[in-house]
Amino acid sequence: MSNTLSTDAAWRRLHEEATAPYRQSGRFGWHFARGKLGRDPAFRGMLERQLIGARHARVLDIGSGQSLTASLLSVAASMQTQGHWPSAWPATPARIDYTGIELMPRDVARAQAALGHLQPAPRILCADMCSAPLPACDLVVILDVLHYVDLPAQEGVLQRVRDALAPGGRLLLRVGDAASKRRYAISQWVDHTVTRVRGHRVSPTWGRTLVEWTTLLQRLGFAVQNIPMSQGTPFANVLLVADLEPASP
Ligand SMILES: C[S@@+](CC[C@H](N)C(=O)[O-])C[C@H]1O[C@@H](n2cnc3c(N)ncnc32)[C@H](O)[C@@H]1O
Repeated sequence: MSNTLSTDAAWRRLHEEATAPYRQSGRFGWHFARGKLGRDPAFRGMLERQLIGARHARVLDIGSGQSLTASLLSVAASMQTQGHWPSAWPATPARIDYTGIELMPRDVARAQAALGHLQPAPRILCADMCSAPLPACDLVVILDVLHYVDLPAQEGVLQRVRDALAPGGRLLLRVGDAASKRRYAISQWVDHTVTRVRGHRVSPTWGRTLVEWTTLLQRLGFAVQNIPMSQGTPFANVLLVADLEPASP
């Protein structure tokens, strides 16, 4: 692998190449992808904080929106194959087996239009995470989604995530910390506005404090760390890194 490529140069290339396919999905989809990947610290953070490793090949993205994670990981894999990857970043999977589950047909259509060229083909399903079957996986990504369903439904999704994950599997769950009242209120306001702009109906949302999220995940059998994940934004977002025990030898 190249050790001459700086992390900033690598990120510029990732941003360019992972968003370019969204031109196929129309102006909105392309601009949304560029803005989201450029401004949301979670995507670069998942790479540079070593949260996605080579072993996380089977990826389940719940509430996947435009499936940006599939595009990002696919470009990351091809850059590594070409030897263009900063030495400071760990390897991500060489081949992604991606499933996205998204409720909104328009987002699913944009993702399918943009990512149809990927090999292996991503599965991008229009379904409700509360009832959709979850495939066996090594990594589950849930970014800013669980607050759309009520507290028992959140727990139901997380139980099914735990059951779908292989031993040693990882859940990356970004949530708002309801204990940070002012920043949490800003997140909710922006969330409602973006939901409306994307042409979706705005529904009530259900939050928990960071302590409550952590306690719930631990009760389900995960070992949990948390990483603030709202740098450069006014939000109270936290990325929970929740790991299952590896299989015993
Ligand atoms: C704030 S967006 C985040 C999208 C994506 N995770 C990202 O970070 O780019 C939340 C997404 O969750 C989806 N969503 C909400 N409720 C859902 C449900 N019950 N099942 C599947 N997806 C859902 C929304 O339609 C929306 O696309």
